[in-house]
Amino acid sequence: MLKIKALIAEKIHENVLSINPAAEISVEDIVGMLEYPPDTSMGDLAFPCFKLSKALRRAPVQIAAQIADSLTLDCIKSAEAVNGYLNIKISDEYLGEKVLAEILEKKENYGRPTFGCGKTVVLDYSSPNVAKPFHIGHLGTTVIGHSLKKLHEFAGYNCIGINYLGDWGTQFGKLIVAYRLWGDKQQIEEGGIDKLVELYVRINNTIKGDEEKGIPARDDLAQQARDEFRKMEEGDEENIALWKWFVEISLAEYEKTYKQLDIEFDSYKGESFYTDKMPAQVQKLRDMGLMKIDDGASIVDLDEYGMPPCLILKRDGSTLYPTRDIAAAYYRKQTYNFDKAIYVTSNQQNLHFKQWFKVVELMGYDWYDQLVHVPYGTVSLNGAKLATRTGNVVLLRDLFSLAIEKVTAIMEEKNPDLRGREDIAEAVGVGAIVFYYLYNNRIKDINFNLEEALSFDGNTGPYVQYTYARTCSVLEKVTECYGGKVVISCEEESALLKTLCQFEEKVNIAIRDYEPSVITRFILDVATAYNKFYHECKILGAEDASIRGTRILLTEATKNVLGAAFSLVCMKKTERI
Ligand code: ARG
Repeated sequence: MLKIKALIAEKIHENVLSINPAAEISVEDIVGMLEYPPDTSMGDLAFPCFKLSKALRRAPVQIAAQIADSLTLDCIKSAEAVNGYLNIKISDEYLGEKVLAEILEKKENYGRPTFGCGKTVVLDYSSPNVAKPFHIGHLGTTVIGHSLKKLHEFAGYNCIGINYLGDWGTQFGKLIVAYRLWGDKQQIEEGGIDKLVELYVRINNTIKGDEEKGIPARDDLAQQARDEFRKMEEGDEENIALWKWFVEISLAEYEKTYKQLDIEFDSYKGESFYTDKMPAQVQKLRDMGLMKIDDGASIVDLDEYGMPPCLILKRDGSTLYPTRDIAAAYYRKQTYNFDKAIYVTSNQQNLHFKQWFKVVELMGYDWYDQLVHVPYGTVSLNGAKLATRTGNVVLLRDLFSLAIEKVTAIMEEKNPDLRGREDIAEAVGVGAIVFYYLYNNRIKDINFNLEEALSFDGNTGPYVQYTYARTCSVLEKVTECYGGKVVISCEEESALLKTLCQFEEKVNIAIRDYEPSVITRFILDVATAYNKFYHECKILGAEDASIRGTRILLTEATKNVLGAAFSLVCMKKTERI
């Protein structure tokens, strides 16, 4: 629709200038003013004339009437002036001849913006803390982060996806102590991350003790853990070897989940990588007089900016989360020379990002305004049956397995002869979770309802994947040559095209707002429009060859756009269900 909007805006602009040659308004301004009316019976686009009233010294009603009269363009079927609005309908011929042809010709490049070409974006997302459970709370950062990467790539940006693993810190001291007390090499090799998490939970509980049961806290173990971590920091070989092994085991587990989501990272440089890069930044803070000693700790006072101080060094001189983030941002700027660095985390970290972004600014780094924090709301789960052995968190892996299991059961019932069921069940099960999650505005807290997510009716992943498979199955049945004259013969066909041609605009908005839900909603709009068309219009059964050919082409166009949109939101496609 962007192209159509541009054509119309240009024409309106001409008209405006003919009324008042000195009017200060650009074609882009007019593009921005074109709206989608809430009710399509009013028109496909509407142009409110109120804002022009001052510049043109006329009543909006008059302006609308005047522009309507001279608004003749190939892409316009009708332009009607109603109460100061210009209601515009798009011509079916234009949709059939221009829009449909463009989708089919550009294929996977249809809707691709180019504004990212020559620019680099670094995206920091997923970033689980090693040896702690990879749970449902990480779903947001993982799928929002990766969708943003795909969206930026689509728009031409050179993208670097970084998994900033939480692979350093006192938790490793704890894990080392626990492993030496209770660990078993073979068991861990076989049981993987679960065994590590078990050890981690056990050492934490042991350190805490249990007052009610009369079990005392074990401060001695806490001290041992700190000592082991300090040894690690000093490069103790044995501890480092253990640490590497723990990281490897955890990564192997994450990889399985990433594979199910079709996610790959370009870098796994985690927190540990920055240990030797922090002193230079700390020194700079000191040299610039930005650091203050407060109760033994080193801080940057942010009182002036209405924030609590940013902690740089603890009393014992050890570094903190913000210290590492500052060092990492500096390293990334030097390494990738990014135009934008995006961080996707839960909104519980809002203050952390605000604080260290400010510190970067105070340090005089002129790229401070290229740092973007993209927060998301919390996820909870309905009917918390999924609770796992690790306490009451729900592992992402278990959530995916359960979804796959349920989808398999549904498919066995609906389509017992389906070939390649395993892969399909994985695509649909995992896709259901992703779609359900990304359907919501990212900042909203969401309550997960698995039954709802897996339903084949309604605004769900299975429904849209089913629609994609439907387009494939229609195309598979085509035996004739098609692609002759395009004839748009009914409302459903033009409605479908009007939906499809909004793709680029949706991509732009999704990138501008860092909001993948714009794409999931678009996917749903396309699926709904296609299914309506599918039910109302005979496709292969249409008698007229041109109509039949056009409907096949429409199906192909839908398949192209849906497929491209799926990959922007981490959803795998499946040709059969
Ligand atoms: N590992 C952190 C966590 O799980 C998230 C890291 C986010 N990225 C960053 N650069 N701080 O909470």
